[in-house]
Amino acid sequence: MRKFLVAMTLTLMGATFASAGVWETTCSNCHGKIAPSKEQLLAKFRTPKELLSAAKKKVKEGRMPSQLAFGIAARELFSKPVRTAAITKGTQDFRKFFTPLPALPPIPKDNSLTPVKVKLGKMLYYDPRLSRSNLISCNTCHNLAIGGDDNLKSSRGDHWRTGGRNAPTTLNSGFLRVQFWDGRAPTLEEQAKGPLQAHVEMNSTPELVVERLKKIPTYVKLFKEAFPNEKDPVTFENVVKAIAAFERTLNTPNSPFQRYLLGDDNALTPVQKEGMKLFVKYGCIACHNGPVLSDGMFHRFKSNDDTGRYRVTKNPADKYKFRTPQLLNVAVTAPYFHDGSAKTLGEAIKRMAQQELGKTLSDSDVEKIKAFLESLTGEVPLEARTVPQLP
Ligand code: HEC
Ligand code: HEC
Ligand code: HEC
Repeated sequence: MRKFLVAMTLTLMGATFASAGVWETTCSNCHGKIAPSKEQLLAKFRTPKELLSAAKKKVKEGRMPSQLAFGIAARELFSKPVRTAAITKGTQDFRKFFTPLPALPPIPKDNSLTPVKVKLGKMLYYDPRLSRSNLISCNTCHNLAIGGDDNLKSSRGDHWRTGGRNAPTTLNSGFLRVQFWDGRAPTLEEQAKGPLQAHVEMNSTPELVVERLKKIPTYVKLFKEAFPNEKDPVTFENVVKAIAAFERTLNTPNSPFQRYLLGDDNALTPVQKEGMKLFVKYGCIACHNGPVLSDGMFHRFKSNDDTGRYRVTKNPADKYKFRTPQLLNVAVTAPYFHDGSAKTLGEAIKRMAQQELGKTLSDSDVEKIKAFLESLTGEVPLEARTVPQLP
């Protein structure tokens, strides 16, 4: 299935670039409608370079989605006549704003994804003995049977204390550019060190984790297999590497929306297609873009006294800024926002439109966008959901 999806993705991308230019398939969905037309741009800029830097500026200002092929489009515009008529009609146009989810996220050079490492990482993810109390595992708060989170307003950890923030899902987390609501960890490896030690979560220490694991022969054997050529492989660094490797397999590329992006026109209902249009037209796509619908950037969202990114950078400009969360599987990860303050998806959509876009949505538009977001629910791989036998 994975191989099939990858092949499909490549075919689709190949076809997109071969049959019509980037300008036509991507840029012209906005330009000529809600943004300057091709003719206006060509009148204003004299070289591809000038146009490109103006585009980059707009992206920086959050006026335009990032990760588009601006360079290619700029060259197209200046080199050959561009057919301006959209090649596709209706909702077909809107597909081009989105990126299908690849089967796997980027794999870091120093943490290869091997089957035995993934198997070990899975056991560690489910093992409560990594916590001081022997009661709490990653799966306690990121339950893979219920969408990779805990469906609580804010999570309860060691001694049922809370850190005051809502647990995001671990599904597709390998695709995020930074981890945590405030982006304080750059990678999944760095991320995993946090909850293991946080006193409101697992309240452990690197020493305690290693000491406990070394007493369990099956773990010692698995660490040896997962990290060959290492003399003493049962280390805290390798614990987080194995967990991160497992997390990189928690991907859900098989949602109705993903099937739609890969070419199945009937995978979405008419209402979901309407919702997809509104999602683009209202500008949600400006921040919720890329394969998991997160730009990985920080945006102001004041909800309570949590100052967000400011806590990490101490830069006053970052006060109340939070990283855009992914939206895959969002229909099953209520409640919403960093403080879990929105109970329903409808409420979250309304508040987003108000606070991020200054728009008040009608109930009917909210319902359509909600239907669209529901199409982002995929299937957690069975292997990951099956609770492992712990040694
Ligand atoms: C989701 C809609 C959208 C898409 C897709 C999009 N743009 Fe834009 N773009 C805009 C908007 C809106 C503006 C105007 C922003 C403003 O006025 O501040 C803009 C501005 C620009 C500008 C700067 C114009 C100026 O006068 O400074 C350039 C250049 C540009 N876009 C190029 C591109 C290219 C090339 C692509 C395709 C790779 C593209 N855009 C795709 C919405 C979009
Ligand atoms: C007590 C509940 C709890 C436990 C146990 C827990 N987490 Fe979390 N997790 C959270 C909360 C709450 C956040 C958000 C905290 C923040 O952003 O400040 C989070 C954030 C994350 C993120 C970031 C996702 C994103 O969208 O940024 C990942 C990945 C993650 N946890 C993985 C793990 C792993 C792996 C473990 C086990 C080693 C673990 N968590 C244990 C509650 C928990
Ligand atoms: C300017 C950037 C931006 C725009 C535009 C934007 N969002 Fe968001 N979105 C965010 C950020 C940042 C958060 C996290 C807020 C928080 O909890 O601190 C978020 C959170 C969400 C959530 C909650 C996800 C979760 O897991 O808790 C949903 C749902 C959502 N947005 C949908 C939308 C919709 C629908 C639109 C358009 C009407 C939209 N967003 C427009 C940046 C944006």
